[in-house]
Amino acid sequence: MKKIIITIDGWSSCGKSTLAKQLAAKLNYVYIDSGAMYRAITLYFLRNHIDWTSHEATARALEDIYLEFKFNEKSGQSEMHLNGENVEYVIRDLVVAEKVSEVATVKEVRNFAVTQQQKMGGSKGIIMDGRDIGTVVFPDAELKIFMTADNAVRVKRRFKELYEKNPNITIEEVKTNLEMRDYIDSHREISPLKKADDAVVLDNSTINMEKQLNIALDLVNAKMKQE
Ligand code: DC
Repeated sequence: MKKIIITIDGWSSCGKSTLAKQLAAKLNYVYIDSGAMYRAITLYFLRNHIDWTSHEATARALEDIYLEFKFNEKSGQSEMHLNGENVEYVIRDLVVAEKVSEVATVKEVRNFAVTQQQKMGGSKGIIMDGRDIGTVVFPDAELKIFMTADNAVRVKRRFKELYEKNPNITIEEVKTNLEMRDYIDSHREISPLKKADDAVVLDNSTINMEKQLNIALDLVNAKMKQE
């Protein structure tokens, strides 16, 4: 069966990665979490006190960053490695979430990440989620999904996820962070978050994960028939 590229873009915490992982498992495709790359770069910058407002400092720091997704048999998932270290869990912290949107506005950072993402798509059979995947990384992807959900639903979901790791976190903190990221991600100069003209909108505010997966699988099947 012919393999295609599927892109899933959308707002923070609207379930992109959940859908992408389920689809990848069903279709036997590779799932790539492009946000993990921006998060790992941010973690490196924070740890090494890199001033990302300086183009020279950023370019120099990027030379020392090696990103790799490695499959973990135990978790059954591809996990982000930064210079050989598994950072899959630490990049989800609020400390990183608070800065990642800012770091992702920097031209050098985007060029660095997008070049690697495009290489990963060379062999097709991939599902990548992010903010600019259908518009910039794979503008010719066969299937593009743009996900959205009500703000309150998204805040609740992200709060539940973060609370499990850190019970000191407040819903207000999560709400502020999501609103800030949405604003920066959709207003930045270079490749802002927006729906590609040929993307299909999937609003999952009131549907469960099973229904969402079925909708996406129907879209994939319809595409496959056209190809
Ligand atoms: O998907 P995520 O929440 O893990 O992404 C973290 C941040 O990375 C997000 O706020 C914006 C940035 N990002 C981006 O600019 N472009 C992408 N393709 C993916 C993520």
